[in-house]
Formats: sequence, C-alpha cells, structure tokens
Amino acid sequence: MILEKIDQLAREWLEEAGNRIFMALEQSTVEVEAKSDRNDLVTNVDKATEQYFAEKIATYFPDHRLLGEEGYGEEITSLEGIVWILDPIDGTVNFVEQKRNFAISLGIYQEGVGELAYIYDIVGGEFYYAKRGEGAFVNDVEIPKLAEDNKLEDSLVIINTTAIRKFPQMLSVIQKARGLRLYGAATLEYMAVATGRADAYVSANLAPWDIGAGKIIAEEVGAIVTRVSGSEMVITEKGDSFVASPSVHREILRFEI
Ligand code: IPD
Ligand code: CA
Ligand code: CA
Repeated sequence: MILEKIDQLAREWLEEAGNRIFMALEQSTVEVEAKSDRNDLVTNVDKATEQYFAEKIATYFPDHRLLGEEGYGEEITSLEGIVWILDPIDGTVNFVEQKRNFAISLGIYQEGVGELAYIYDIVGGEFYYAKRGEGAFVNDVEIPKLAEDNKLEDSLVIINTTAIRKFPQMLSVIQKARGLRLYGAATLEYMAVATGRADAYVSANLAPWDIGAGKIIAEEVGAIVTRVSGSEMVITEKGDSFVASPSVHREILRFEI
C-alpha cells in the first residue's frame, strides 16, 4: 500500500522536476559551480531539484529519510525504514557541456531492500522504472531479461578512465571485447547494460546516489552487480562498481582484477 502511494507521487514529482530541468535548459538559467575540483560540477538546477524532492518527501512522508547528493537529506549509514536515494542530476558535466545525456535517479529502499527505481533521461525521453519482482520497463515497455550466454568477444564494455588507471587488467578486458564506450553518466551506463546496449560497466568510484536506482533496475533484468573484486556491493558505501550480464560478469572476473 505504502509502495503504491510512493510510486504514484514519485512519478508526479519526477515529471514536474523533469519539466523544471528542461525549462532551465531552454531559458538558459543554469548557473555552474565547481565542488571538489574543476571537473566536479554542481548547478543551481541540481540543488533546486533535490530541494524540491526534500520538501515533498518531508510533507507527504515525514518518517521517510532522503539520501541525496547535494545535502538536502540526512547523513545516512544504514537503510532502516524507508530511504529515498536521489541523484537530482546524474551526469552534471554532460548537463552543462552537452545539454543531454544526464538523468534524475531515484531509488526507494525499505529496510535495506530496493523496492522501486526510476531513472529519467529527460532530453532522451526515456523513463526507466522497476518494481522488485515485477520487471523493469522503459517508457512502459518491459525490458527483456538479459541473455545468459553472452561472450566478452561479442560485447561492448563501458569502463571509465579512472577504473582503467586503477585496474590495469581492464586494458586486456577492453582488448578482448568488441569495443569500448563511455557515456559520462553512471545511471545511463547502468541502463545501457540493463537494456543490452552494452554487456558490462565498470567504474572506480561511485556513490549511493549514482547506483541506488540503477542497481534495482539492472538486477530486475538479471544483471549481476558487485564490486570489481566480485564481492557484494553495499549500497550505502562509496566504492568501485561492476555491473554486467551474467556470463560476461563471470568472464571478466577471470581476469583476476
Ligand atoms: C558522476 C557521473 C559520472 C561518474 C562519476 C559520478 P554526477 O555523477 O555519474 O559518470 O563517473 O563518478 O560522480 O556528479 O554527474 O552526479
Ligand atoms: Ca551521479
Ligand atoms: Ca549528481
């Protein structure tokens, strides 16, 4: 019952937030600031979007908690109760430089279990959604389960540059694969694997808001999500991330990274 209510409101709020982001691009009201370094960007639109969700959640669900990138939620180290994990704009560098290839990402966790997930690629017009155990969808069309027998040699892989530097064996993975692709937004890279447009995505350092929704959607179609070592990924802890179709996940693990 509570999840139905969350689903109904989350969709309304995502649509409204998406419209506001679109208008900010159209009307050129985006103001950019650097955070930890000159390539770590945030804009007034990232902040306003997270603040919008924070206010809505506090009004409609005062006992739920928000874990968001821009600090309008709470410091969260455990997922007790219901936690909304939000990245108001994933791919802020793309948002600023390309005005596309970014997304709002929202995952809903109940007692640590990922129940609902939304990734909204506003300019691309793709709305990804999953409910645990009920499948994953893009624009209301069900995403087929991933094949169990894909081979790395026939696959496109997405491996970010920091991961290539940190795990040099990734060069051999890339050499064996059909090709390398980089999109610059972790959520859309997760969705590339979930929809079979790539077979693996490796990143050296992702935060809970980068993967909160993507993990739920990817697992719903049968992708395997772990750390690069193959160990379990704890969603509240920052670290490396490795998502792939099942057989390609096994094949890449054999490189002993
Ligand atoms: C970043 C993007 C990028 C990934 C970074 C993230 P942001 O998120 O997802 O693709 O490589 O690690 O921090 O800062 O644009 O929300
Ligand atoms: Ca992000
Ligand atoms: Ca962000």
